[in-house]
Amino acid sequence: MTSRAPQARVTKAVIPAAGLGTRFLPATKAVPKEMLPLVDKPAIQYVVEEAVGVGLTDVLVVTGRGKGAIEDHFDRSPELESHLEAGGKDTELREVREVAGLARLHTLRQGEARGLGHAVGVARRHVGDDPFAVLLGDDIMDPAVGVLAGMLTAFEQRGRSVVALRRVPPAQISLYGCAAVEVLGEGPLVRIVDIVEKPHPGDAPSDLAVMGRYVFGPAILDEIDRTPPGKGGEIQLTDAIRSLLRSEEVYGYTFEEGRYDVGDKQEYLRATVDLALRRDDLGPDLREWLLERLDRR
Ligand code: UTP
Repeated sequence: MTSRAPQARVTKAVIPAAGLGTRFLPATKAVPKEMLPLVDKPAIQYVVEEAVGVGLTDVLVVTGRGKGAIEDHFDRSPELESHLEAGGKDTELREVREVAGLARLHTLRQGEARGLGHAVGVARRHVGDDPFAVLLGDDIMDPAVGVLAGMLTAFEQRGRSVVALRRVPPAQISLYGCAAVEVLGEGPLVRIVDIVEKPHPGDAPSDLAVMGRYVFGPAILDEIDRTPPGKGGEIQLTDAIRSLLRSEEVYGYTFEEGRYDVGDKQEYLRATVDLALRRDDLGPDLREWLLERLDRR
């Protein structure tokens, strides 16, 4: 395997948001799970803000049937804006306008929910030969932890794809992609030597799980095109990364804190509480109420 030329700066983000959200039914029957609110913003807004915050200003959201609310959320809303303006609701007006002005937002339809790999493959029409980051639309990361920023730096230095990894209890590894890695030094960067989708705990090569953030060069798109349906009959991104490993090095970026899969009910609740506790306008009262509540149990 050859090592690489440094890459151009990554400016494109791809946010797959076309999944069916079956773990969150019935809420997700008519509302995309990426639009479920966390305090007062839909989940996907945190994801777009995270992308923009690290300089990814060209954002593609891969949507599907019934996901029109996502497009509407990031669009201008003249009627609502006039109403807020007339009522002197300046703060709300600013917030509504800021959402529409966040990024250069594009959408493409996946057509059929054929898996995460397939959803990323749809992005080819938008990303072309450029490198891009993938941020799952239902995975919230605390930007203060700096995972995506660190991954972009690693990609720009190494010129090779980078996947976010976090340790999980061994019994949970069958919910995730799982990577076997070679430790490179003290820092968060490791080299991935193998990767498998949702292994049985007994067969898992490690307890390092793939976590909703990736930075790819364009070669992944060819691998996705060649990837047949895998676990669950879906075209798995993990399988495409496994194929990519045969021709290129792929790195893992390990981290510990600050990620929530808000497509999972338990993590959704934790994200809501954590985000609210951090807010000056809501945190102090909520903290007091929670302490009282727990005391009473
Ligand atoms: P999930 O693995 O959470 O799958 O997708 P899901 O179908 O959305 O939800 P459950 O498991 O049935 O509850 C991870 C991310 O990939 C997107 C989802 O929208 C989510 O952001 N995805 C998944 C797609 O865009 N297309 C797909 O075909 C599958």
